[in-house]
Amino acid sequence: MGSPTLVTARAPGRVVLIGDHTDYTGGLVCPMAIDRWTTASGVRGGSGLSLASADEPEPLDVGLPVTRPDAITPTWGRYAAGVAAELGVVEGLQGTVSTTIPIGAGLSSSAALELAVALALGFDGTPRELARLCQRAENTATGLPSGILDQLTSACGVDGHALVMDCTTLDIEPLPVPDHAVVQVLFVTQRRLVGSPYADRVAQCAAAEAVIGPLRTADIGTLNAIEDAMLSRRARHVITENRRVRDFAGALRAGDLNDAGALMLEGHESLRVDYETSTAAMDEAVRSLSALRGVYGARMTGGGFGGCVVALTEPGTQIPNAWVVRPTAGASRA
Ligand code: GLA
Repeated sequence: MGSPTLVTARAPGRVVLIGDHTDYTGGLVCPMAIDRWTTASGVRGGSGLSLASADEPEPLDVGLPVTRPDAITPTWGRYAAGVAAELGVVEGLQGTVSTTIPIGAGLSSSAALELAVALALGFDGTPRELARLCQRAENTATGLPSGILDQLTSACGVDGHALVMDCTTLDIEPLPVPDHAVVQVLFVTQRRLVGSPYADRVAQCAAAEAVIGPLRTADIGTLNAIEDAMLSRRARHVITENRRVRDFAGALRAGDLNDAGALMLEGHESLRVDYETSTAAMDEAVRSLSALRGVYGARMTGGGFGGCVVALTEPGTQIPNAWVVRPTAGASRA
């Protein structure tokens, strides 16, 4: 018997600067990985996956190989079990997970858990492959038809940079965050995407695409062909949001933070009115933040129905209860 293999891996959370609800139609997104992480560490070996969580009362204890991750309790363990199932691992891990990402706040604590566990279990492949595997794990383990945004950001983060990502090709352009730009996050309310109208939005996009073709390339003029007014609004959000990601990237490249902030506010309106993923509390937070001196713009961020608001500000801008997040590198094994 050799000595036990000790492993530690960590994966960052993410915040979306602009480009929400575009990933599952293969569109454009502009997130950044943030300096908050989930860490998985332990001893490899044995025939089970046993993880204690610093943030949850019940540990995960499951035999390998995992066949039904969606039936695992406690439910937080489904993300880890889903990863083990996708990897098909038979060599286990006894360890712990802990996180500095607020859980259920729309900052991708789930994706970070998936990536950290995958790396701790010995995943061997490219960051894009890691993201794909973890997305599949989440889809299977939770039934949520989520896109690739969270996992791809956590896998491919670049220190000091936001990312412009194409969710069809998985091409990524790292975009330096200018020195005079500060990103701040304000927690508004807890939320769960499983059981929320998220899956309805995915289905509504598919219904709109059945009429006008891929939203990724659709022209705004084609919206007239969609008879159902609600579906037409959903499609309008996606088409305009893809355009906003391009414009936002241009504004950041040019260092024009006023433009970037205005696009964030426009994006929030689109999520509020056309996509209906905001809440009254998030709308209020965006309204009050955008009225503050030093704030270029603000918007809800992530899947919505609760969660956080993100603001782009001048250095030194104090927002009560918000915290500054810095763009950071992607997931890694120690
Ligand atoms: C959640 C999903 C992502 C993405 C966002 C909205 O975070 O996991 O795939 O759809 O919502 O942009």
